[in-house]
Amino acid sequence: MSEQLLNLYPLCGQQQNLKDLYLAHRVDRLGSMTSPFVYANFLSSLDGRIALEDKEQNLIAYIPKHITTVSDFKLFMELHAQADCLITHGGYMRALNENRLGNVLQVKSKELIEWRCNNGLKPQPTVIIASASMEFPMHPSLHEHQQDCFIATGKNADVERIRYWQDHGYKVLISGEEQMVQGAALIQQLKKLDYKSIYLIAGPRMLDTMIREKQLSRLYLTITHQLIGGLDFRTLLTGPPLENKVNMKLKSLYYEPDSPPGSGQFFMHLDL
Ligand SMILES: NC(=O)c1ccc[n+]([C@@H]2O[C@H](COP(=O)([O-])OP(=O)(O)OC[C@H]3O[C@@H](n4cnc5c(N)ncnc54)[C@H](OP(=O)(O)O)[C@@H]3O)[C@@H](O)[C@H]2O)c1
Repeated sequence: MSEQLLNLYPLCGQQQNLKDLYLAHRVDRLGSMTSPFVYANFLSSLDGRIALEDKEQNLIAYIPKHITTVSDFKLFMELHAQADCLITHGGYMRALNENRLGNVLQVKSKELIEWRCNNGLKPQPTVIIASASMEFPMHPSLHEHQQDCFIATGKNADVERIRYWQDHGYKVLISGEEQMVQGAALIQQLKKLDYKSIYLIAGPRMLDTMIREKQLSRLYLTITHQLIGGLDFRTLLTGPPLENKVNMKLKSLYYEPDSPPGSGQFFMHLDL
């Protein structure tokens, strides 16, 4: 049986199956050749943390397991299934290689792969790996699933590393004035490559540049009703105060009362 959610906005009080909730948003159809739809999904605690830093492990950041839920992951994958292009980063490729994180480079469920094929998408999305250092291992699953893959970096990235990846057959998208990738330059490149539904599965630094450079169309946000504290933590954005206010409009809000156990969570989406 599918998990039940309570709609709090806009249809206050209605029950809603979790299954297909985000698939029904059809984000795959919201972008166009001139204006791709760029969306991200984050999970935050009530006190605004998306990850904690582990002081004993070189400040490696991690998401505390008790804030993650099956429901949140299912919705994450429903959004994933609607993308023609994913943006991840070098840090994730290193984490995969060290088995610190699970692999979300592919759509795994047969049902969702079938959904993609029935809706004009390739079985698996293209993957963009943003990296300033260009120092990461390629994950074999990308080749196994015949996924297109590009590496994005800034103009001042190490020339040797750029050549290394080009020699290995990867196209490098130069999309930033320094070493870092910048949101507008990257989306401009992806627009030229005809991508229309671009799912940011990267961390707060990529979200930061997408927001600052006005490239994000929609934010999906899960708020677990838990406080996690911690002196060293990550939150949604990484940079200095935003010069211009960024207003978002709530489009939907759902409540799952019993997950995580003993607590609950909100699933919401906001448009910019
Ligand atoms: N709760 C959530 O929803 C959520 C979502 C995402 C991440 N997180 C967590 O938050 C913590 C930090 O996130 P993260 O490690 O994923 O990401 P991050 O700290 O934002 O970035 C990590 C790496 O990504 C590359 N990168 C990021 N932005 C870039 C840019 N603009 N240009 C070029 N390269 C860029 C860099 O790799 P190079 O060193 O290769 O240059 C950087 O070291 C982690 O614990 C993660 O699990 C939580």
